[in-house]
Amino acid sequence: MNNAIRRACVIGWPIEHSRSPMIHGYWLKQHGIAGEYGKRAVRAEELEDFLLNLPAHGLVGCNITVPHKERAFDIIRRANPAGLSAQAKALGAVNTVWLDEEGRLNADNTDVYGFMAHFLETVRAQRPDWQAPGRHVVIIGAGGAARAVLAGFAQEGVARITIANRTYEKAERLAEELSGLGEASLHAAPLDALPELLAQADVLVNTTSLGMTGQPPLEVDISPLPEHAVVADIVYVPLKTALLERAERRGLITVDGLGMLLHQAVPGFEKWFGVRPEVTDELRALVEADITRGH
Ligand code: ATR
Repeated sequence: MNNAIRRACVIGWPIEHSRSPMIHGYWLKQHGIAGEYGKRAVRAEELEDFLLNLPAHGLVGCNITVPHKERAFDIIRRANPAGLSAQAKALGAVNTVWLDEEGRLNADNTDVYGFMAHFLETVRAQRPDWQAPGRHVVIIGAGGAARAVLAGFAQEGVARITIANRTYEKAERLAEELSGLGEASLHAAPLDALPELLAQADVLVNTTSLGMTGQPPLEVDISPLPEHAVVADIVYVPLKTALLERAERRGLITVDGLGMLLHQAVPGFEKWFGVRPEVTDELRALVEADITRGH
């Protein structure tokens, strides 16, 4: 069976616009691996059957995207609780699934790694001594992406995280739920508290889909941010969002959303195909061109 083709894919609903096949396809070719990585549209009601029968679908594993990350976590917790990584358990959501040698389901959440790896790489390329301890991070949004970004900064050791959200109660719930991660004190705030918050922020991250092509703009005045602040956006269509453009114009360090997408793919590829791949400039350019073409 050693020369059998190993197959993985990304599942979600809808799935047409996923760029994961492009990323993994690039690495398979680069490493000359006899593998395949596709995409499959899987409905919520098909998810359990799909995950519990990966070999029948010819798969060694898969990525899971919106809207299945939380349900997939529940399914795997019931099937093989020992197969969940600490990160998956901390977030209650998974995006990367693989079968171990005994054929048991294992799962991880690599969004946290993906976001932090890209954030730290980008910031330290411009400010090599940047450290998380002591920092105040302001996160806009309280959904699944906010959860991953919050976990990343908490585990990295920041001092304080404030979640600013349209629905204040949702921010409060998130702060309560994730209060056990790291030393950070977690706070909730309404969006109209942003001007005051930004004046004391070291990092601002947009985790909502506002500012994405086809969505309403994110209307945040970033002028109160101090000069040393870093601004990150998880939106990557367009690559340079209006938020990042405004930050750049002010001379602040900016972190785009594409890096998270590229870096979160690394651990999955390693699990399925046995090689730890690199996020190269060439790969980034390939995906960037695809985004610019508007596919
Ligand atoms: P995901 O899981 O992808 O992060 P989500 O759970 O739908 O997505 O969360 C989207 C986030 O964007 C939420 O914090 C949402 O605010 P609410 O909790 O008040 O719904 C925020 N959001 C979406 N549209 C918004 C808008 N027009 N103005 C302000 N916030 C918005």
